[in-house]
Amino acid sequence: MSEQKLVLSDPATGKQCELPVRKGTHGPAVADIGSLYREHAMFTYDPGFVSTASCRSDITYIDGNQGILLYRGYPIEQLAEKSNFIEVAYLLLYGELPTQTQLDTFNHSIRYHTMIHESLRDFFRGFHYDAHPMAMLTGVVGSLSAFYNAAQDTRNKDDQEIFAHRMIAKIPTIAACAYKHSIGQPFVYPRNDLDYASNLLHMLFAVPAETYEVDPVAAQALDMLFILHADHEQNASTSTVRLAGSSGTNPYAAISAGVACLWGPAHGGANEAVLNMLEQIGDVKQIPQYIAKAKDKNDAFRLMGFGHRVYKNYDPRATVIRGMCHKILQRLGKENDPLFELALELEQIALNDEYFKEKKLYPNVDFYSGIIYKALGLPTNMFTVMFAIARTVGWVAHWIEMTNDPEQRIGRPRQIYTGAAQRDYLDPAQRD
Ligand SMILES: CC(C)(COP(=O)(O)OP(=O)(O)OC[C@H]1O[C@@H](n2cnc3c(N)ncnc32)[C@H](O)[C@@H]1OP(=O)(O)O)[C@@H](O)C(=O)NCCC(=O)NCCS
Repeated sequence: MSEQKLVLSDPATGKQCELPVRKGTHGPAVADIGSLYREHAMFTYDPGFVSTASCRSDITYIDGNQGILLYRGYPIEQLAEKSNFIEVAYLLLYGELPTQTQLDTFNHSIRYHTMIHESLRDFFRGFHYDAHPMAMLTGVVGSLSAFYNAAQDTRNKDDQEIFAHRMIAKIPTIAACAYKHSIGQPFVYPRNDLDYASNLLHMLFAVPAETYEVDPVAAQALDMLFILHADHEQNASTSTVRLAGSSGTNPYAAISAGVACLWGPAHGGANEAVLNMLEQIGDVKQIPQYIAKAKDKNDAFRLMGFGHRVYKNYDPRATVIRGMCHKILQRLGKENDPLFELALELEQIALNDEYFKEKKLYPNVDFYSGIIYKALGLPTNMFTVMFAIARTVGWVAHWIEMTNDPEQRIGRPRQIYTGAAQRDYLDPAQRD
């Protein structure tokens, strides 16, 4: 705690209150308002938590003005270029890059836990064939809590670790089952000889009738997308996992709350919305018309994949994906993809438009990821599911950090009450 203080005065009473100011490793100073209600009978009001830090965290740092994203201090660009998803998962969970032995042990444990209980596979049969895969993912991830409940002590370090490994290992298997169910194909068992991304591609695209060869280019692209999506500090779904977990609920149930939150189009659902939007625009000639719609306050249309609560500069993940998009489409022989050309043109027009410049609306991570998922052969309704697989690592890391934080209490925001003033109940006959 620093000596710096924020002094507030109440104009009505003239009473002053001094709030201690905290400082993290990076980032702005943070006024600690924890004592405000207790000592001064006052709340703060901050819809959408625009200026509110809900916790301390050692995991991820974002500087939205500079366009910087660090996992445990390492720049995302370096990790995307030099690391792989499993190593990044280890880093996010344990705080340091692993030694070779630690990496081998972790890798083995994740591969060892990939299967799901046969009864859990049966759950999918209860869903209608056209259920959205995110709906199935939400339900089935929540159902894990029915399989791993009995001995779960949320503060026990061994239980925490086995939860983390199981969740990261099983989420691709569950995601692939959701996909297979939606297209009416048999479920494919995981192959533990394959790396994380290759195994997922195998479970998504293999069929019992034929031999399936994993395309290493596709696996590499997926692995890199997973690195970029693995964590993003206190975003809506991660905050949801923390809030749900703060009650001490079963951690698998807390993760399913995060999946549900991610689904929304203002969050992880934006990658699906971007593809739908590009298909709706259809042609470069139509772009000006859609830009005008996005700027019209009376029109609900927004340019999906643009803008971010934190980034008021280019999203560094979008920069990496944009470069990868060119490379991957070329290597998959899809470099003339009309949607990618449309996306590039849309980006240029929006970046040079006064409205977007003034509001600092830059392309975000979802703007390009959908194009890569499409090139890999995934239908649009699976895009957010892919995001959920990667973000599971972040959710789990934050759940563990939250659970072990000595300052952790149940999350319980307050409100400004604007309803009716206190009044007395009247019998129906007296209500005219
Ligand atoms: C991400 C997002 C939800 C951030 O929301 P936010 O921090 O609450 O910001 P706001 O919605 O208040 O936006 C600020 C201003 O920019 C405008 N704006 C924001 N994103 C916009 C977009 N994609 N297209 C057009 N206008 C946009 C808003 O209308 C608002 O204008 P105003 O100040 O005149 O009212 C928002 O930018 C958005 O809806 N983007 C599209 C969805 C998306 O890509 N989500 C993925 C995020 S990773």
